[in-house]
Amino acid sequence: MGQIQGGCRRVKKRVAVLPGDGIGPEVIKVALDQVPNDYDYVVIEASADRYLAEGALITDEEVATIASSDALLFGAIGDPRVTDGVLERGILLRLRRELDLYVNLRPFPEIGVTFVRENSEGLYAGVGERVGDVAREVSVNTVAAIERCARYAFEYARARGERLTLVHKRNVLVHAGGLWTDVVSDVGREYPDVEWTYEHADACAYHLVQDASRYQVVLTDNLFGDMLSDLAAGLSGGIGNAASANLHPDLSTRTVRCLGLFEPVHGSAPDIAGTGLADPTAALRATRMMVEELDKAGERSPDVEDERSSRRSRERANKESSSS
Ligand code: IPM
Ligand code: MG
Repeated sequence: MGQIQGGCRRVKKRVAVLPGDGIGPEVIKVALDQVPNDYDYVVIEASADRYLAEGALITDEEVATIASSDALLFGAIGDPRVTDGVLERGILLRLRRELDLYVNLRPFPEIGVTFVRENSEGLYAGVGERVGDVAREVSVNTVAAIERCARYAFEYARARGERLTLVHKRNVLVHAGGLWTDVVSDVGREYPDVEWTYEHADACAYHLVQDASRYQVVLTDNLFGDMLSDLAAGLSGGIGNAASANLHPDLSTRTVRCLGLFEPVHGSAPDIAGTGLADPTAALRATRMMVEELDKAGERSPDVEDERSSRRSRERANKESSSS
């Protein structure tokens, strides 16, 4: 049952929490102590330990529990005992894909730069093969995916009055880079008030180090976003500070309740797990992003809207009865 707060019925949020491996559980524990207490939690036990003991990465039931929660707070995954890619693809990338979390938002307030990383395709599409001496990894880029991510980035830049830079490598990746340029140019025409420009990814890496103030919102593909956001974290006091939100921001196309997966940018750091050295700042920031997004969504949620409109009708009815 919802609580009554300031005349608005506030529905208690249910958040799924996946602490994961290494320092994940330690930093998530610190972060959870800071969360408002009007949240219910459900813990998802997926981890390297469980995988090694039982062979399960994340079960369909766990994915369904996350999908029907309001959000997922994610610690970290990765373990030296497990081959690279197994946990990453089997847990984190599966969740990004199945919840269709197409934007990876990575703000770096220390340097005033925010990355909007396309989070659903590119070289992360999982298309490729290794046959004999040849390995192919295919970057998949579609108009629909570029467009929805670009729209989010332009909206984000517009809301803050910021400039946008599209980052790719179209001097070499001519097919993907060409498509990105065309789609972003089309979307950009709908935002004449947002100044935007293009830069190659290698130049962006150099310029970030030389003078990050050249950037405000950086829109880029999945792999460039992965790498350049680590670089940005290095310029912002370290990876221990950086948080990210994996989102499906368009309510008209979201098919699940879960609005996003919130996580520190850092990994499981098994070398310092249990030593007390792990910095919980990134997990705290990820948790703060989650609370902010949930609050924003709450303002638009049907429960609150229903309550507002029924209050308006009650007020109207009272006025009519007192004037008759
Ligand atoms: C990140 C991580 C992930 C990624 C890994 C763990 C799969 O590096 O969120 O930046 O490559 O997206
Ligand atoms: Mg990364």
